[in-house]
Amino acid sequence: MSDTTSEQPARSGDTTPGALADEQGGALATTTRDREVLVDAQGVKVHFPIKRGVIFDKTVGHVYAVDGMDLQIRQGETYGLVGESGCGKSTFGRALLQLEELTAGKVHFDGVDLASLKGEKLRRERKNMQMVFQDPLGSLDPRQTVEQLLLEGMRAHNLVKGGAATERLAELLKAVGLPRSALNKYPHEFSGGQRQRVGIARALSVDPKLIVADEPVSALDVSVQAQVINLLKDLQDEFDLTYLVIAHDLAVVRHISDRVGVMYLGSLVEEADADDLYDRPLHPYTRALMSAVPVPDPKIEDTREQILLAGDLPSPANPPSGCRFHTRCPWRQETLCDTERPQLRVVQIDGVPASQRVACHWAEQIASGELQPHKVEIELTDPSAQQSVTADATEPPTSAADLT
Ligand SMILES: Nc1ncnc2c1ncn2[C@@H]1O[C@H](COP(=O)(O)OP(=O)(O)O)[C@@H](O)[C@H]1O
Ligand code: SF4
Ligand SMILES: [Mg+2]
Repeated sequence: MSDTTSEQPARSGDTTPGALADEQGGALATTTRDREVLVDAQGVKVHFPIKRGVIFDKTVGHVYAVDGMDLQIRQGETYGLVGESGCGKSTFGRALLQLEELTAGKVHFDGVDLASLKGEKLRRERKNMQMVFQDPLGSLDPRQTVEQLLLEGMRAHNLVKGGAATERLAELLKAVGLPRSALNKYPHEFSGGQRQRVGIARALSVDPKLIVADEPVSALDVSVQAQVINLLKDLQDEFDLTYLVIAHDLAVVRHISDRVGVMYLGSLVEEADADDLYDRPLHPYTRALMSAVPVPDPKIEDTREQILLAGDLPSPANPPSGCRFHTRCPWRQETLCDTERPQLRVVQIDGVPASQRVACHWAEQIASGELQPHKVEIELTDPSAQQSVTADATEPPTSAADLT
């Protein structure tokens, strides 16, 4: 679903000054704005078959978990990917790392088409792409001590020999703020926040270029969330890391992200530099998500826009036609919305930089106030489709060991 009118960041090797969007400013640090693209996903689709039948495994439909994602992440950048639970964020993260088979599309990492790598070559490239999970307890082998967990990946990739291991382990623990005594402990002996530090050390142990952090703080107490986010930020500077941070909560990615992509039912509906997106969300879905984030100032809280999202996320096994958001959109129009799927495009709105792209047919008219929101009638989703998704949604558990 590439849109030829949309400006894309430069690919690896493309360093022409005009290749990057955003002539009109935006908050993205120049350091990452001008850097080359490390991850380049084009037209990525992951569809899971829905099987039925006792004797014959008949495919009766598909879950369109990821359905046309174009996304680039520059070296040293933090890209925040947000959207409601079930919209395909984790599947996309796994697809980037080739842990999920692509139904369509391509992922280039550091200029290399990952689909062209098989066996040992893919395993070696995986070293450069690590994952941090929501629940480290579920992804770390409970029978291994922290020392064993950290050494496992390093040994698999021949990163340590003899005495160097002790030095490297000490470095890793220091980097994530854990005491040396942590080495002899098992994952269950730590608190949630400390365990996440172990998970991060595990990812760092193989010296990766990219870390996909999938809901890294969702399972943590609010008081600990900021510490872990700050740790990720510090490590990025220290180790020149590139991040894809996945979250269902816009507040979590706000302060860590250079750019943010908002996902709805398998594809991006808006993408912008983080400050631009938070200052002026343009897609109706982003506006609704943003209006649900509380503002500390009571004066602003009382006057700000409140958009309640009607109904649940439709089933990805039976996505709505046209704009996938049309069943819940307060600005839905009688033309285009339910017949044509909008592409992510640069909009013609004063003061909006080309780096802010929106997948809505009516973005300009909504921004100008020419179109006003209306009440949304909740459409009932087909319960049989919903059932088939839940029955077959056997998300394979991912463990840190899958990445070594
Ligand atoms: N292995 C799988 N088989 C079938 N359906 C799956 C599988 N993995 C995920 N799904 C479905 O794909 C959709 C997107 O899931 P996911 O990527 O986990 O969303 P998110 O991370 O945004 O919550 C969901 O409907 C989920 O049930
Ligand atoms: S295209 Fe139509 S339904 Fe979709 S977000 Fe825009 S106004 Fe709403
Ligand atoms: Mg998820």
